[in-house]
Amino acid sequence: MRETVETKKLSILYISPHGNTEQMAHAVASGAMIDGIDVASYHISHLRADEIRTILEQADALVFGIPTVARDIPKPMWDVLDDLSMVKLKTTIAGLFGSFGWNREASLKTEKRLKGVGLRLVGDAGPATVLEQCKELGRTLAEEVIRRV
Ligand SMILES: Cc1cc2nc3c(=O)[nH]c(=O)nc-3n(C[C@H](O)[C@H](O)[C@H](O)COP(=O)(O)O)c2cc1C
Repeated sequence: MRETVETKKLSILYISPHGNTEQMAHAVASGAMIDGIDVASYHISHLRADEIRTILEQADALVFGIPTVARDIPKPMWDVLDDLSMVKLKTTIAGLFGSFGWNREASLKTEKRLKGVGLRLVGDAGPATVLEQCKELGRTLAEEVIRRV
């Protein structure tokens, strides 16, 4: 009998008022597309809160794309990060990327929050900030998920 291999979900949740973080999300997704990985990328403004909670709970890896706006994390993404302690996470694998102009305050705050809820950030260069790094981040995360199988 042929064994069915279950694909693993790598979910990218991002916000991008001006489109730069969205381009980075596409790069992460393209890097993560390897055998055994089902990549899904979501602009959180297009989702309801209950849909976001389901995505958080079902993912085998969670990747957050967050630009710095007014030295902070945009409010709708704060709400998602807040939800992390209200849901039952399946994974401990996480990644982070985001566009910024002159500082990375959103990334620094998010890093702290993700670690605070027990997620482990993958990628040694810190939060990915350029497209090549984003693609690499996607690949590293996908390989990490497969290694855990
Ligand atoms: C209203 C506004 C506030 C911003 N504040 C910051 C900031 O505090 N620090 C920073 O590094 N960049 C800041 N930026 C630059 C954005 O982070 C940058 O344009 C980023 O590419 C936006 O990401 P997005 O295209 O995904 O929306 C700001 C941009 C705007 C429009």
